[in-house]
Amino acid sequence: MSHVGARYDFQHKARDYQQLANELAGLLAGERDCIANAANTASCIYNAVPGLNWAGFYFRQGGELVLGPFQGRPACVRIALGAGVCGRAGAERRTIVVPDVAQFPGHIACDVASRSEIVIPLLRGTELVGVLDIDSPDVDRFDADDRVGLERLAALFLSSLAGGDD
Ligand code: SME
Repeated sequence: MSHVGARYDFQHKARDYQQLANELAGLLAGERDCIANAANTASCIYNAVPGLNWAGFYFRQGGELVLGPFQGRPACVRIALGAGVCGRAGAERRTIVVPDVAQFPGHIACDVASRSEIVIPLLRGTELVGVLDIDSPDVDRFDADDRVGLERLAALFLSSLAGGDD
């Protein structure tokens, strides 16, 4: 059993995200339980990546997203598909990076400290499983390297689940 201990400085983002992906892959290896793997993925990201105040999951139930395992302050439980950043990313099935949440109409402020956000849809084929949501107290926290690195971590989580197809 490997545990993620490092808190990377992310001066070399591509390298550090690759190392973090290796650690997460080890953490998820051999386990297919969705809640357990979501919890460890959220903890891995929150504790290893600097400058975050929330990292976690919402899973789709019908026409809404319901809060899953996360790290950070308590959050709103249900988000309609299409609402907020999470609901928009889910409905449009694309990653949304919001450099300044104050400029995103309809942003749902679960933690008033959040200033920027990235939401990655979790897709199995065209089916929306849920979203991975990551918030920062810093404006413009997530660049293209963060997006690529975090999408890779989301893909590792998805593929760890029973029925994962990659
Ligand atoms: N800000 C999100 C809501 C979820 S919290 O940030 C954890 C949104 O606008 O969808």
